[in-house]
Amino acid sequence: MEEQIKNIEEISIKEILNASNEKELNDIKVKYLGKKGELTAVLRGMKDLSKEQRPIIGGIVNKVRDNLENLISKKGKEFAELELKRKLEEEKIDVTLPSNKFIRGSKHPLNRVIEEIEDLFVSMGYDVIDGPELETDEFCFERLNLPKGHPARDMQDSFYITSEELLRTQTSAVQARVMVANQDKGPIRMICPGKTYRKEDDATHSHQFNQVEGLVIDKDITLAHLKGTLEVFMKKMLGEKTKLRFRPSYFPFTEPSYEVDVSCFKCGGSGCNLCKQTGWIELLGAGMVHPNVLKMNGYNPEEYGGFAFGTGLDRLAMFKYGITDMRYLYRNDVRFLKQFDQMDI
Ligand code: DAH
Repeated sequence: MEEQIKNIEEISIKEILNASNEKELNDIKVKYLGKKGELTAVLRGMKDLSKEQRPIIGGIVNKVRDNLENLISKKGKEFAELELKRKLEEEKIDVTLPSNKFIRGSKHPLNRVIEEIEDLFVSMGYDVIDGPELETDEFCFERLNLPKGHPARDMQDSFYITSEELLRTQTSAVQARVMVANQDKGPIRMICPGKTYRKEDDATHSHQFNQVEGLVIDKDITLAHLKGTLEVFMKKMLGEKTKLRFRPSYFPFTEPSYEVDVSCFKCGGSGCNLCKQTGWIELLGAGMVHPNVLKMNGYNPEEYGGFAFGTGLDRLAMFKYGITDMRYLYRNDVRFLKQFDQMDI
């Protein structure tokens, strides 16, 4: 019997060492050590041995089994290592290869201008407010001192949805909204950039455009505050050399009212085709908040005053980036928009 065990050991060791993969190794394990395996069969046959022989043969079989198990597990580890190595080799990444090119989008010039304005005014303590584009007649006109039938309503041809609702013609509507919403009727400092709509039917105007509105309400606000604020605003947007000119004008919600021109940044004021040889470009409407507007929206004009201004963002973006046709801003032509994709880097 000892002879038989030795034989099994010798042959099985050879087979284990020659196994060329995990599966073969497993088959060998079953063949010798499994339930019906050869070594197991020997153990089963021990019941026919004498009492003295049993522990001796049992000891030998156990030793051989331990030995085979160790060998199999060692060989198994080798296979596992080889497999891991193969996988690593297969999945190797060459980090020096050129990568795929990502196509980056670019910020639209209008959004750039809006973000720049927001950053500037937030740094001066203003809130940025959003208002509805579908506005009521009340907020767009009435609360801004433009009652029904007021001739100045003709300055802005409107898209009415119902007799009381329209697409807002001016971001000034948000002035009234903020004043009404401000419960404690304390000071206000806000800007509101956003879309506006007018029923324009000539070739040089778009039915939809963008404005930014500014409103400050506080005690002891003077025209000097308005002038200083617009100067900072325009210098930031168009360059430090920019000069401002205030021309008396009329808006129903401000008194006095002004149209504000900036010195032509193309010719510096000497006259060119952009400024039609005048040296100036009209850019903003502004003024001191009309006492009626304060009163109508819950502020006591004896106690509080304020200034307001509004400007078209499309023109501002055109001037800032030298865009010659406003329609470029609305065409989504990638060749145009792509020119802005390097600007943040
Ligand atoms: N809302 C005016 C417009 O669209 C612009 C404007 C003028 C806004 C005077 C103001 C202002 O806040 O005070 O033409």
